[in-house]
Amino acid sequence: MTNFEFPKNFLWGTATAAHQVEGNNVNSDVWLIEHIPGTPYKEPSGDACDHYHRYRSDIALLAELGFNSYRFSIEWARIEPEEGEFSFAVLEHYRDMLRACHEHGLTPIVTFHHFTSPRWLMARGGWENADTPDRFARYCERATKHLGDLIGAACTINEANIAALIMRFGFMPPPEQLQQATWWLAASKAFGTAPEELSPFQYVVSPKAFETIMSAHRRAVEAIRGTGAKFPVGITLALQDIQPVVGGEAFAERMSKEINDVYLERLEGDDFVGVQSYSRARCDDRKFLPPDEGAERTQMGYEFYPEALEACIRHAIAVSGLPVYVTENGIGTADDTRRIEYIRRALNGVVNCLKNGLDIRGYTYWSAFDNFEWALGYRPTFGLIAVDRTTQQRTVKPSARYLGSIARANAIEQA
Ligand code: BGC
Repeated sequence: MTNFEFPKNFLWGTATAAHQVEGNNVNSDVWLIEHIPGTPYKEPSGDACDHYHRYRSDIALLAELGFNSYRFSIEWARIEPEEGEFSFAVLEHYRDMLRACHEHGLTPIVTFHHFTSPRWLMARGGWENADTPDRFARYCERATKHLGDLIGAACTINEANIAALIMRFGFMPPPEQLQQATWWLAASKAFGTAPEELSPFQYVVSPKAFETIMSAHRRAVEAIRGTGAKFPVGITLALQDIQPVVGGEAFAERMSKEINDVYLERLEGDDFVGVQSYSRARCDDRKFLPPDEGAERTQMGYEFYPEALEACIRHAIAVSGLPVYVTENGIGTADDTRRIEYIRRALNGVVNCLKNGLDIRGYTYWSAFDNFEWALGYRPTFGLIAVDRTTQQRTVKPSARYLGSIARANAIEQA
């Protein structure tokens, strides 16, 4: 056994997103969609983990476990509940969250947009409207002016490529079909927009959406820096380790370009890229393939394949030339021993990269808590900490102690 030491100042954390943990994010587009007739959501988010009220004890618990960082998102729908109306009280709430992080020695990594948007943005053309980048930048600027002195690092947008990815994997019908779904029609009516103009973040795949999202990112970086903020700023991407079977090389290359590279190539001037990886994606010459018969699957249905993280880090650095923060990596499983094994093998990949001199600044596990897994509701459990849905009681899992002790030592034992 040898001991591998991570670089000094390496950030060890866990991640959450406002909508998935705070509870009652009622002014967001997703909350409305959760409650629309025929909703694609298995259940509504409700109180979630009540993190909006319990953040102080939650943050204390993360620090006690050994982490030195916490990635969370601030909620645009709360901060700017109507266009141009900013809530001082909500900004103060997030300021207190940041303060709590510092009191406990956690470097806060703040995400400005993690899938949810204010309802009013949907009424104004959402993520396909050319004015959205400016609106997003205005919110980022306002929030940074209020919070910037306490932020450790910032991600503008979480998983800019999520919708492209979901559609390529066949989990979402093409736009023409989607726009005829009962829930889509009901949602457009409720938001006050035409069905063909409804553009929630997780559902937009057009070239216009790509341009809107990437220019929103660019404008946000400029706006954040324009406040004089000194912390590093980047975007996060759901990167895919695409592995072709024999004959699938050309398709794999095309998909990697569409899902990974068109985004990675647009990050010039950023301080880092946030790598998020969960599994690999295998393909033949035409399509993505399900896991082999007998392959171990996670609760999400995809393959247990922690080695994907190493491939994604290498690819992200090769294409973007930027330093990496691993902003998400994790597994939905009811068997915590498999979570420990997943983390062990994923970290092995991080160590391999560091040994090759690659610039990786931190590892963030998704997620701190079992939380609201979007359309799948509360069934998939990604957390290092379990949450009782009725009492909100937190229970630390062995995997939390495992990763927390690596974090505390800033080192890992290797066979
Ligand atoms: C997202 C999270 C999500 C996680 C697990 C990522 O795509 O950023 O919000 O819960 O994956 O599926």
